[in-house]
Amino acid sequence: MEPVIVWYLRMSLIYFVAGAIVGICMLLWPDAAGYYISAHAHLNLLGFMSMMIYGVGYHILPRFSGRNVYSPAITRIQFWVANAGLIGMAITWPLVQRSSGPSVLEVVLVVSAFLSLLSVVLFAFNILKTIQPIQMPQR
Ligand code: HEM
Ligand code: HEM
Repeated sequence: MEPVIVWYLRMSLIYFVAGAIVGICMLLWPDAAGYYISAHAHLNLLGFMSMMIYGVGYHILPRFSGRNVYSPAITRIQFWVANAGLIGMAITWPLVQRSSGPSVLEVVLVVSAFLSLLSVVLFAFNILKTIQPIQMPQR
């Protein structure tokens, strides 16, 4: 497995643990839970699940298509964009929801959200350019 793919999988599992810890804290401190629902949901769904799909997808879909991934450079760039976006969202989202009025944190949250969106688009582009039907030998 390529190192960048191992890192997608490692980060996915780290976000899973982080998301589950936030979930347990939300059960233990229900009064504050509302501030953390979005961070919890996205650590699990964008962090654990999407990051796992990125890693497994980059490993397996090119092999199923019988060719190399379209752009290994996009695979690496997307890794950093996805992690910067998610970490930014997970940290600033509860702080923004606790704060009253506009703040610099809101700007960081929106920039992070756009980075997450960019990572989704990079993944879709890279995989769409990779996958194709395999020509089966004629009998
Ligand atoms: C140890 C594991 C987990 C615990 C203790 C936990 C706990 C919680 C709690 C307390 C809430 C708030 C519920 C509410 O007040 O409405 C919540 C919401 C949520 N959780 Fe988890 N959770 C866990 C794992 C997961 C996983 C693995 C996922 C997704 C893969 C997930 C996705 C969500 C989502 C999407 C919401 C928001 C639901 C809504 O909008 O009402 N959680 N979780
Ligand atoms: C580009 C990445 C994403 C951005 C910028 C984003 C943004 C948002 C926003 C702004 C909300 C409303 C939160 C609120 O009202 O407080 C939300 C809710 C939600 N999103 Fe996302 N999302 C992204 C990706 C995803 C993905 C990939 C999934 C699932 C696989 C997902 C699942 C959910 C769920 C279940 C909720 C409702 C729970 C909550 O209140 O947080 N999101 N998202």
